[in-house]
Amino acid sequence: MSTFEPKILGFCCNWCSYAAADLAGVSRVQYAHNIVIVRVMCSGRVDPKFVMAGFLSGADGVLILGCHLGDCHYTTGNFEAMNAVVETKKLLDYVGLNPGRLMLDWVSAAEGGRFAELVTGFTDQVRKLGPLGSVEGKDIDELKFELRAAKMAAESEKLRGVAGKQTEFTTKGNKYGEVFTRHEMDRVLEGIIAEEVPMSKILLLTQEKPLSVKEIANRIGLNPPRVLKYVSALRHKGLLALDSIEKTSPLYVAQTQGSPE
Ligand code: FES
Repeated sequence: MSTFEPKILGFCCNWCSYAAADLAGVSRVQYAHNIVIVRVMCSGRVDPKFVMAGFLSGADGVLILGCHLGDCHYTTGNFEAMNAVVETKKLLDYVGLNPGRLMLDWVSAAEGGRFAELVTGFTDQVRKLGPLGSVEGKDIDELKFELRAAKMAAESEKLRGVAGKQTEFTTKGNKYGEVFTRHEMDRVLEGIIAEEVPMSKILLLTQEKPLSVKEIANRIGLNPPRVLKYVSALRHKGLLALDSIEKTSPLYVAQTQGSPE
């Protein structure tokens, strides 16, 4: 553990934090060398699925750095980033990955020193958590399956639709004029995640081979009635189809997204 050096994936917005990284470099400010930076135009461009893809590609931690609130060059991009991070941390928590492996913060173009401090501080934090799966007590293959399901759930229409309207729902309200408190919004997101992640797992498993409800239930640790409910919902959406009957058990197989059953 003492020799472990975390791999950090950093997303930096073009206008502030990437410029701060440049400034730290030309000013020869020392910071942890563990970070690989991806430049994005705005922190609001970082989709939850990018974070999942980062962990699936071997990152032990993901750091998103944007302009200070009020300074975003696209006005509200960093507020969108805050909403995306709320959603992503909930997904990580649901699939058993320590949410401390993801951090969002702000740096201006003139703050090369602050950039260095944030990178070094976050690297130390992830170093304490250890390699992916260690503090979580999970086998890496098991964790990667969970992350693939979380990534698929993040791409689902329902989660994208609600997560993208967090600001609207907590300020102006939904189409019925209901304004949600932050606490209520969190409960709504958690409820959607608790349905979308298991459904994503069902699709991932049945992409490999046709399975019965009982087999799926054993693989994902849910009771068969709940799995049957999700199987029905997925069949209704045309994402899952009946493949064959083995003895008396129907076997289901995933369909190409959007194709009719
Ligand atoms: Fe930097 Fe939007 S441009 S956070």
